[in-house]
Amino acid sequence: MTHLVDSEDLPTNPSANEHFQRLVERAVNRRGFMLKTGVGAAAVAFLSAGLSGCGGGGDAAAPAPAPATDLLGFTAIPVSTTDEVKIAAGYSASVLAPWGTPLFSTGAGSTWAGDASEDAAAQARQMGDNHDGIHYFAINGKSDEGLLVMNHEYTNVGYLFTNGVVDSLDDANKDLNAHGVAVVHIKRTAGVWNIVVDSSYNRRITGNTLMQLTGPAAADALLQTTADTTGTQVYGTLNNCGNGWTPWGTYLTCEENFNQYFGTTNTASPGTTRDTNQTRYGLSSGTTSRKYEQYFDRFDWQKEPKEANRFGWIVEIDPFDAASTPKKRTALGRIKHENAAYAIAANGRVVVYMGDDQANDYIYKFVSTGTYIEGNIANNRDLLDSGTLYVAKFNDGATTGDMMGTGEWMPMTTTNPALAAYASQAEILVNTRLAADAMGATPMDRPEWVAVHPTTKEVYVTLTNNSGRSTTNDANPRTANIYGQILRWREAGGDPTALTFEWDLFVLAGNPTITQANSLNNGSSNVNANNTFNSPDGLGFDSAGRLWIQTDGNYSNAGNYANQGNNQMLCANPTTKEIRRFFVGPVECEVTGMTFTPDSKTMFINIQHPGEGGNSHWPEGGAARPRSATIVITKNDGGVIGT
Ligand code: FEO
Ligand code: CA
Ligand code: CA
Repeated sequence: MTHLVDSEDLPTNPSANEHFQRLVERAVNRRGFMLKTGVGAAAVAFLSAGLSGCGGGGDAAAPAPAPATDLLGFTAIPVSTTDEVKIAAGYSASVLAPWGTPLFSTGAGSTWAGDASEDAAAQARQMGDNHDGIHYFAINGKSDEGLLVMNHEYTNVGYLFTNGVVDSLDDANKDLNAHGVAVVHIKRTAGVWNIVVDSSYNRRITGNTLMQLTGPAAADALLQTTADTTGTQVYGTLNNCGNGWTPWGTYLTCEENFNQYFGTTNTASPGTTRDTNQTRYGLSSGTTSRKYEQYFDRFDWQKEPKEANRFGWIVEIDPFDAASTPKKRTALGRIKHENAAYAIAANGRVVVYMGDDQANDYIYKFVSTGTYIEGNIANNRDLLDSGTLYVAKFNDGATTGDMMGTGEWMPMTTTNPALAAYASQAEILVNTRLAADAMGATPMDRPEWVAVHPTTKEVYVTLTNNSGRSTTNDANPRTANIYGQILRWREAGGDPTALTFEWDLFVLAGNPTITQANSLNNGSSNVNANNTFNSPDGLGFDSAGRLWIQTDGNYSNAGNYANQGNNQMLCANPTTKEIRRFFVGPVECEVTGMTFTPDSKTMFINIQHPGEGGNSHWPEGGAARPRSATIVITKNDGGVIGT
């Protein structure tokens, strides 16, 4: 989500739980972590402890840091402010499947008009807008043919319509159809990746696609509407931000700022009173810019008060069956979901880590009741329908070695005394945020993507920033949050199902050229001219354990953001904490989503909302409308990405 319309910056959490930033300040001051010890004992102790099964960790007098490995094989590139993509030397980047690209050669939407004159029916058969989370599903294990599945988070209304506004029913449907997910069959021929047009795999899932509500909240009265008295069927998925995938071959799409689609045309008082849930999730008290409430009763919360309860979930999709019904998995909770990162525990249970992207909201994990059995489709199909949802509490006070603190996972169940006010699991899940408030969960600085290290199972999360564009008060300690940070934790015993963990900070993003009274604003010692950035968002590991960091921040390149340029993608070595800039996006975009072919020699990422402020014509150039698109990254010598 762009920083220009960052409603996430405005907290809707009125609870008084201790704010994470205060924990960070205390921890940094007490331990001198990174700011004093730099890239040293602390960092190495973290990873080595994880590799040995998460024992006790080291201490401040641990041995000298191990030499950096050759995990990062490229040379960092400078920042850029031009309307083009920039990539490390020895690598190439090409554009694939921009907004509006036809997936079929005949019928509606089979040609791209270029002037946004397509109607709703055409948009439903073309690539949607605002590419975000993405995953490559290999066909028969191939690294040159697969299904690229990606989210279309929201729309740039100004570019989506010829006149730049929603002013008809068809416009509203076109807008819904530019949301959702795309399943795209792609193939590499003579070194070039192309869409397999007319493939039977090609599919658009939109804000109008029928899907099923499953899990503990399905069929509950809280999910029943006039159109669906069963509470089990809902049209559409909206604001599909980050993603996940499962080892059984399904795609997870995560509904984030669903609140922005719900408003009311009845603005007469007292009819505009929202209930506690609607306020906590941020539904508009009046009309919305997309005007869905004007064209569809279901998007007017006064007419259909339960419809919004049917959004804010994680949706599981079988990309290999174009006729399959997507399933909204209510067991994983209802929040502004960023992404979903899984780990399989030694006992086979499936753990899914999730962040709620709003200032002062929380980090969650789900632990399945059933166990994953490789290759057993019937066993694995509905694993995400039954399990326990936990919310994280980050305690103050280091107890072991160089970790900055401990933490605990608190179960969100009817047997938890803190949730005695909730009559059922369905009620807890629909009101996940409110339930977490009552449990003393730790408010975070806008949790974005979570990523699990492929071998250590240590978990990293981007905390993007706390106040968006509040850039002026450099002396105020809270302004440190304008840059964001990456936090990581290690589950007790290396067990993803553990109820306790230890945490530390991987990097405090910052700007070395800005001198401020509060050292937090300058970032930690692993921030320098080769990587200065703000607002980490997309996050993921490749199979070798490189940590890829994508930004969705302030690209003004001025003031506190001087020398940070356009949004970018960096790559980090988790052991040494070195971070290098690998890629820079075009003007006014964010860089988001990542996936690799099995041979790690092609990487796909997304460019979202280039020109959101009206100053880009990427990728075509000239006077063309800017278009969100996928970027295909290859190494010129045919090698592994990042080497
Ligand atoms: Fe859709 Fe929080 O980014
Ligand atoms: Ca963001
Ligand atoms: Ca994001």
